Parts: sequence; structure tokens; C-alpha cells
Amino acid sequence: MQAKINGTNIYYVEGGNPAAISVIFIHGFPFSHAIWQSQLEALGHDYHAVAYDFRGLGKSDLGDGQYTVEGHVDDLLALLDFLEIDKAVIVGLSMGGYIALRALERNPERFLGVALCDTQSKADDNAGKIKRAAGAKAVKQDGAAPLAESFVEAVFTPASIQNEVPEVDFIKDIISANDPVAIAGNFIAMAARTDTTESLAAIAVPTLILVGEEDTLTTPAAARDMHTRIKGSQLHVVPHAAHMSNLENPEFFNARLLEFLSTITG
Ligand code: MLT
Repeated sequence: MQAKINGTNIYYVEGGNPAAISVIFIHGFPFSHAIWQSQLEALGHDYHAVAYDFRGLGKSDLGDGQYTVEGHVDDLLALLDFLEIDKAVIVGLSMGGYIALRALERNPERFLGVALCDTQSKADDNAGKIKRAAGAKAVKQDGAAPLAESFVEAVFTPASIQNEVPEVDFIKDIISANDPVAIAGNFIAMAARTDTTESLAAIAVPTLILVGEEDTLTTPAAARDMHTRIKGSQLHVVPHAAHMSNLENPEFFNARLLEFLSTITG
């Protein structure tokens, strides 16, 4: 389905019961809504589930190729309006978590709860920003396929890479299909994002934090830091998983997500 959001076509899928609590899934970088298939199935008819492609990635339009996390939050809020959802639970993985954290900081009244998956509140330091700039330059020069090859090494456990689990090729294909201009634009958006650490203490909605035990990009230490700052938050370390914990251990991930959702009332 396409929604005209802030002048750009945003692609989304929805399922479940439209009258139930809405759960909005925000993917990481540089993926698409497709990473959430197992979670959408797990939610079944008990929830209204929506997964969308943020601007530039998946099947959403490229726009002008210049993005900010701020703009992605504008799109998330406009998508809620488009779907006539007053308040939703948001589930953000990695960059999706950066978007979720900033959305909660800006418009807490629109959210019933949040699941922060393999993400962090800290902004990039100088070394991180320089790395993003190099990533943007390389993807524009060389295209998305070489990035996909190196990215999977960083986001999956060594065991998944060695055993050539199908999820590795699945993610490579998603990355390779994305427009290099959009990938570069989102590298820059991440480099320019604000630090949301100080606002974690103000989060007043139920919060679930999930992190793969072998996540080296957004580490269990970063997850524990958010857990100590967000009052009443739950933290679960996902076994046998790195950064793509929803894909590497969907049984554990989905069980914790469903337990969490069952505690939320509209
Ligand atoms: C992501 O998975 O969204 C990105 O790898 C996050 C990041 O690079 O900070």
C-alpha cells in the first residue's frame, strides 16, 4: 500500500485487526519493511500491525535523497495521521530505534509503548561521523552490492555467516536492491542525529529493550545503559543473535515482544 506522506509515497503493509492496538514496525538501515515478516505473523489477529519503508528505502520513494532523523519522525507521525491512529506502540530496530527515540522525545502523547531493539540513545562521536561520511562516499561510488557484502559480516553472528543461514542472503538482497543515493542520504541522517540519552528518564510509556548477545554495533552495554535510565523498562538479551536479533532468533524475540504487548492497554 502507498500513502502520500509529506509529499512522498511511503510504502507500508498492514495486517491483523484494525480495531486492535496498533503496532508500528520501523526497520533499521539500510533495510526495508520486509525484515519484520516473522513479527507480523506472530502478532496475528490480536493487533493491528503496520510495517513501512522509510523514505528512500524499500518501496518508498527516494524523494530528494536528503534525509534527517527529524524528517523520518515527521513521516512516522504523518503515517499515523494517514492511518487515523491516535496512539501506537512502536518497535524500532537500530536506526528504527533512533527514529523511535526521537519520536518519543518529540511527541510522547502519540505512543502507548516502545520496543527498542538493537539500538542506542547515543549519537555518533567524531570517529563515527567520519565513518558515515566514508560509507556515503563508497556507496555512491561503488553501489549497494559491495556494502551489502561487508554489512552482513557486521550484523550477523559469525555462526550465521559460517552456516550460510538464508537470512544472510535475504539481508544482502534487501540492501543491494536499495538505491545508493538513499543509502548515502541515510548514512548522513544517522551522522546528524541528536543524542536522546538525556530524555530517556522522561519516557513514561512501557518500554521493552531487546539486544542480541553478540551485537557489536549497538551493544548489550548500550542496551543496559538505556535500561538503567528508562524507569520500569524490561531488558532481554537475545541468545544466539547479533544485530539482527529479530531474524537470528525470532522465537525468543517474538515471545518477549508478545509478552510485552500483552501488558499494554489502549
Ligand atoms: C542499523 O542497523 O540501522 C544501523 O547499522 C545502525 C547504525 O549504523 O548506527
